[in-house]
Amino acid sequence: MNPEAYRQLAVDIAQEAGELARQRRAAGVALAATKSTLADIVTDADREVEALIRDRLRTERPGEGFLGEESGTSAGATDITWVIDPIDGTVNYASGIPLYAVSIAVVQGSPDPDTWVPLAGAVHAPVLGETFSAANGGGAQLNSRRIHVAEPSAAGALLATGFGYDPATHAGDLATVGRVMPMARDLRRGGSAALDLSFVAAGRLDGYFERGLQPWDFAAGSLIVQEAGGVFSRPEQSAARRMNLAGAAGVVTELRRRIFDAE
Ligand code: IPD
Repeated sequence: MNPEAYRQLAVDIAQEAGELARQRRAAGVALAATKSTLADIVTDADREVEALIRDRLRTERPGEGFLGEESGTSAGATDITWVIDPIDGTVNYASGIPLYAVSIAVVQGSPDPDTWVPLAGAVHAPVLGETFSAANGGGAQLNSRRIHVAEPSAAGALLATGFGYDPATHAGDLATVGRVMPMARDLRRGGSAALDLSFVAAGRLDGYFERGLQPWDFAAGSLIVQEAGGVFSRPEQSAARRMNLAGAAGVVTELRRRIFDAE
């Protein structure tokens, strides 16, 4: 199947899954169990939504691999893998904050972000009624409208970030914020990496930085940024909590300079 056909399928499934997430939230099925730390939670809806996506893919694309936040990896018979975050922004979701999204990506090659080739991605925010998507080589869109990253502005960049689940990492993350703030007009902590990346792609945010993302957090959003003319980069291959950077090329260069020159 070509990247555009994968994009369309990812959009269809993300919208169906997002509708289930929205309905389960409205019905109060958002009770959270903690995973590794207080901020690392899963709800029954995360599991139900991931199961729906898995079932749809078993029917539509039998034999293709699956990597999901809640159910892990199943190798496929081909070199295609679907990389899924059923609800990105689970803490927002559990708290009734509408900034959450279903993130679905399709990649080719080993399911390793350093070597895979992303073919397509969709990030669907059901409460916002917004679907960000991209096909490799085919550009990025919000619903059916083409989107593009913002150019760096003299007024300073509107940036977003996120913090790791492990409290031991928070001091380091806040020190990074301190190094970056002089280039910023302001800073957001939205609570969904997939939406942060999509907002960069749509030119709403100028840049994004966060250490320690998991592949399902950025698989779709990183392609959407790149297809919107931006840069997504993960420097420091050997770091335990790798930095993830996104924005127009000039913004990413400046983020790198401030974060790494100061270390
Ligand atoms: C989390 C969100 C959050 C980011 C974390 C992610 P989850 O994903 O994207 O914004 O700061 O790093 O793990 O757990 O809600 O799917």
